[in-house]
Amino acid sequence: MYQITLIPGDGIGPEVTASAKALIEAALEKHQSPKIAWDIQNAGQTAETILPDVLLNSLEKNKIALKGPITTPIGKGFKSINVQLRQKYGLYANVRPVKKIIEGRYDENIDFVIFRENTEGLYAGVERVDSPDRIIAEKITTRQASERIGRAAFDYAHKLGLNKVTVVHKANILKQCDGLFLESVTKVSKDYPDIDLEAVIVDNMAMQLVMTPSKYQVIVTTNLYGDILSDLSAGLVGGLGLVPGANLNDDMAVFEPVHGSAPDIAGQDLANPTACILSGVMLLEHLGEIEAAHSLYQAVVDTLNTPSKRTKDLGGTLGTKAYTEAILESLGSL
Ligand code: NAI
Ligand code: MG
Repeated sequence: MYQITLIPGDGIGPEVTASAKALIEAALEKHQSPKIAWDIQNAGQTAETILPDVLLNSLEKNKIALKGPITTPIGKGFKSINVQLRQKYGLYANVRPVKKIIEGRYDENIDFVIFRENTEGLYAGVERVDSPDRIIAEKITTRQASERIGRAAFDYAHKLGLNKVTVVHKANILKQCDGLFLESVTKVSKDYPDIDLEAVIVDNMAMQLVMTPSKYQVIVTTNLYGDILSDLSAGLVGGLGLVPGANLNDDMAVFEPVHGSAPDIAGQDLANPTACILSGVMLLEHLGEIEAAHSLYQAVVDTLNTPSKRTKDLGGTLGTKAYTEAILESLGSL
């Protein structure tokens, strides 16, 4: 029996995690694998306290979680729970595979992974009021965190036999901060003589990704650039409803879609749960349940191949629940 923490989250979070949970269970059952005992824990607006101790204890015990998005108030209010969790546990690598799985605006294959540094940068959230008219935000860059994310990206490329890693920075302007990031990743690259390191400045990278996305294999970048380029990249392959993610360190893994809580469509059976389901595929791989992961992935791809079986964001007609049923059916007939 696997023990896994489930954080349903806010907005569409409960809808997409319910879908992923049902399909993960079905995929495990199909392969006669152990079941999962889910420890369901709320955080944010749905919880009694924003980040309850019971949730933290559950994470520390289980070391693995499936998480829905959690709303963060804009301006005044609490600091993002998502960011708090990543920082508290040093979940330093935010790994986001971007893959074309439906026909879209690009003919060519799109298949790359973003490694976003997940614990510092401008996301450190250290701001101070110098005067009411002058606010200063600190962008924190350490050699240790920069080398660590660089190594995660190169290790991944090495494992998959890929020959290029692209580091994205703005060291021309932020000479110290991004200079240190670039220097650190470059240093790590020396340990991987078979893999080329390509350095691209972030604004150019935004354009390159839109023009020629198939050129990329592994992208490693700082926290904020990774955040922005992830949403841009989701747009290349069909939208935020399709791109999964994992927050990793060397002993804990929190799987969650790239998207947020989408309050505009919450509670209406309109959310596309694919991003969360594919986060579930990553979770199954992490457990070593490779066959279950493969079956679930295949069932998603088969279902998406029938345009009428898609959710509304992809031009289909199905709601979250009916789409989940369609994948379940496809899983059964594999
Ligand atoms: P968002 O990602 O929630 O939504 C952006 C747009 O994409 C909206 O039009 C939404 O309807 C659509 N969308 C997103 N996911 C979708 C899905 N699965 N299916 C269909 N359409 C989908 O970004 P937004 O609106 O900027 O943020 C909303 C809230 O989510 C904020 O409070 C933000 O802080 C939070 N957030 C939380 C994250 C997390 O928990 N990891 C990540 C990103 C945002
Ligand atoms: Mg984001």
